[in-house]
Amino acid sequence: MASILDRFKENTEEVVVDASKKLRVGIIGTGWIAEAHIASYLNQPDVEIVAGADLVEGKAKAFFEKFNVDAKCYNSHKEMLDDESLKLDAVSVCTYNRIHAECAIYALNKGVNVMLEKPMCVTIEEAAEIIKAEKASGKVLSIGFQPRLDENMKMIKKIVDSGKLGKIYYIQTGGGRRRGIPTPYGTSFIEDKTAGIGALGDIGCYSLDMVLNAIGYPKPLTVSGYKSNFFGIRPDYYPTHPEYAEKFEVDDFAAAFIRLEGGIILDFRIAWAMNLDTPGDTIILGTEGGLRIPSTECWNGTVGGEMTLYHEVCGQQTETKIPIIKSEGSLFDKKIRSFLDAVKNGTPAPVPTSQIIYNQAIIDGIFKSAEAGREIEIEIPEY
Ligand SMILES: NC(=O)c1ccc[n+]([C@@H]2O[C@H](COP(=O)([O-])OP(=O)(O)OC[C@H]3O[C@@H](n4cnc5c(N)ncnc54)[C@H](O)[C@@H]3O)[C@@H](O)[C@H]2O)c1
Repeated sequence: MASILDRFKENTEEVVVDASKKLRVGIIGTGWIAEAHIASYLNQPDVEIVAGADLVEGKAKAFFEKFNVDAKCYNSHKEMLDDESLKLDAVSVCTYNRIHAECAIYALNKGVNVMLEKPMCVTIEEAAEIIKAEKASGKVLSIGFQPRLDENMKMIKKIVDSGKLGKIYYIQTGGGRRRGIPTPYGTSFIEDKTAGIGALGDIGCYSLDMVLNAIGYPKPLTVSGYKSNFFGIRPDYYPTHPEYAEKFEVDDFAAAFIRLEGGIILDFRIAWAMNLDTPGDTIILGTEGGLRIPSTECWNGTVGGEMTLYHEVCGQQTETKIPIIKSEGSLFDKKIRSFLDAVKNGTPAPVPTSQIIYNQAIIDGIFKSAEAGREIEIEIPEY
């Protein structure tokens, strides 16, 4: 007989996945992050990896050999998606940013569900086109923001939703690295033709999602943005590859002052490289409380340490520490699983475009405002 104490235990029953029908999955772009995708797909009992595509001759083949997967290889997303015999249910789009929109739209138009890596794309115009294709297809399109699934990230949202902060009126967010321009596998993150945006899109999108998801993604209205590239263009930044300096065509630092619907101010800064460890913690200020979320040294969109809630208890100014919660399991597995569940059950995308369009609108607005050298109104095309 179960002990009476068992009745008080948290329900930790494992969810059983119905593996009787396997989802047929393809991977577009078999570079660095595709390895995390395939590793997570291989952990799912209801997935069969049937194909992959990469523009670089032989890259998809070598990728599948590394993971001991027998899949058909193609030289582009089009070739793969045009092959109707594959009967694809879903694809992961793991290409560099510039081609995200083209691949996602092509897949949706073929009736294939899409897990699209972050950032959603480069421009707000592309984001609107992606959503049009998503709506027309009726398929699931989820954006790859796995930090959202971290328990500490969820705690930020719980605190906001609990009302303990009162009305939120000011947010400071962002993060950075002292030296962290991502070039370990070449120049796809720093050239305009592949990346399109630098730190702003690559890691900026995470810090925006951290706070915007917590406060319910209000619409951005205006932005005064700045971007620079003082580190990326220096040959001595890359001791083993000084030639990368000439290829650096994006931002390595960006900052902005953004007005959001509801009278909320968002103060943002992000850096791939700077002469500082961090440009500051994330703070959320409300009329009843304030939350400090420590930054991480090498910004990757996670909570850097225990958070502090500043509030009053019966008139006494008090600080409550919120210890770091250890997340069970891999965030990438959770990201892939939540996408597959939405595909199988016909439920909404776990990270929906209806939210991320505002993330992209801010990134696009910062870019355009920085180019114009003045504050601009954020304009989102119809979708
Ligand atoms: N969620 C995360 O934690 C995370 C981490 C790293 C990167 N990313 C994102 O993933 C994306 C890819 O990053 P990466 O580091 O893997 O880049 P990468 O340059 O290593 O790989 C991209 C690959 O896509 C291929 N490709 C480009 N266009 C293609 C097309 N039309 N058809 C088929 N293949 C094509 C390229 O040849 C390349 O091999 C980026 O947008 C990045 O922001 C996400």
